[in-house]
Amino acid sequence: MTPLGRRIAALIRQDGPMSVADYMALCLSDPGHGYYMRREPFGRAGDFITAPEVSQMFGELIGAWVVAAWEAMGAPARLALVELGPGRGTLMKDLLRVARLRPAFIEAARIHLVETSPRLREIQQETLAGFRVAWHASVDEVPDAPAILVANEFFDALPIRQFVRTATGWAERLIGLAEDGSLAFGLRPMESADARPLPAPATSSAGVGEGAIAELSPAATAIAATVATRLARTGGTALFIDYGYAGPATGDTLQALARHRPVDPLAAPGEADLTAHVDFTALATAVRAAGAVPRALIAQGEFLGRLGLAPRAEALKRGKDAATAASVDAAAARLAGAEAMGNLFKVLAISSRGLALPAFDDNSA
Ligand SMILES: C[S@@+](CC[C@H](N)C(=O)[O-])C[C@H]1O[C@@H](n2cnc3c(N)ncnc32)[C@H](O)[C@@H]1O
Repeated sequence: MTPLGRRIAALIRQDGPMSVADYMALCLSDPGHGYYMRREPFGRAGDFITAPEVSQMFGELIGAWVVAAWEAMGAPARLALVELGPGRGTLMKDLLRVARLRPAFIEAARIHLVETSPRLREIQQETLAGFRVAWHASVDEVPDAPAILVANEFFDALPIRQFVRTATGWAERLIGLAEDGSLAFGLRPMESADARPLPAPATSSAGVGEGAIAELSPAATAIAATVATRLARTGGTALFIDYGYAGPATGDTLQALARHRPVDPLAAPGEADLTAHVDFTALATAVRAAGAVPRALIAQGEFLGRLGLAPRAEALKRGKDAATAASVDAAAARLAGAEAMGNLFKVLAISSRGLALPAFDDNSA
């Protein structure tokens, strides 16, 4: 067992089984052993590759969108440019390379990165050397100003609770100890006071078969609501990009990845990435309740197509050798292809009321 696994087992012996959400929070964010706290998980040598790490085109296209959104906001003289969970800082670097073409935008923008990992903050500092950047532990700390916010593969890293339909009703899936002392899943029948709100499939259990799993991410909906409340107050817009679905839906989406391979989520606490698919309907509902406007969910492939992925790829290929051109095509296919990231990843755009968003509310982007 990993050092964090031993600590989790001791906690369970002391306090009893813990929710999947508490387990995920410890595995990802424990200050001493949490997955994101000390390591650099990206790239071929790491555990996974995200869209900004696949190609510079991803951040560049988002950069063009951000500048167009700023103009749609009336080009405010002061702008909070916020990223949640910036990883290596690659998306922000590529975004700023394009945004620099509009000096007035760079003049207006203050860069705010919301990042909990000390190791990744160091890397972001190196990547963004030369820019004025402020780091924050949570989005509440970002000072009030008209804002444009981007979050790529951020919400999937937030803890979820899981609920299982049994013969006698819904039960919460917990993590306890097997007889040999290893970590094991178990169930606790739900009391009426448990888990409010319940995940949508649990409130209309008709048609949901025994064994079905429903998920809820209180952390994700709380952060979406915080962002939406801010935007409603200050004006602005946000893009939430992630793999996920338009709920309600059932299914076990908790997954662990190490060295690009799926592993047992309980096998190596703190040493494998743990994620869950994002319920975009739950996020959109929280956004609407907080007074901002969610747009219809679209697939990443469709979004990048609207932003001009094909002409950007052509421009990058111009004058390059065949191998470079082929690698640009391969990256574009990976980002937008239906069998790759194009359909699995989705984009939820939200904004304050009355803002016409490029690529969503008109055809000009
Ligand atoms: C899967 S990585 C995505 C990185 C980057 N956006 C990309 O696309 O390459 C998740 C990021 O979110 C950060 N993170 C995870 N939980 C967080 C939290 N609760 N608050 C702030 N950042 C968090 C991680 O440290 C990491 O930077």
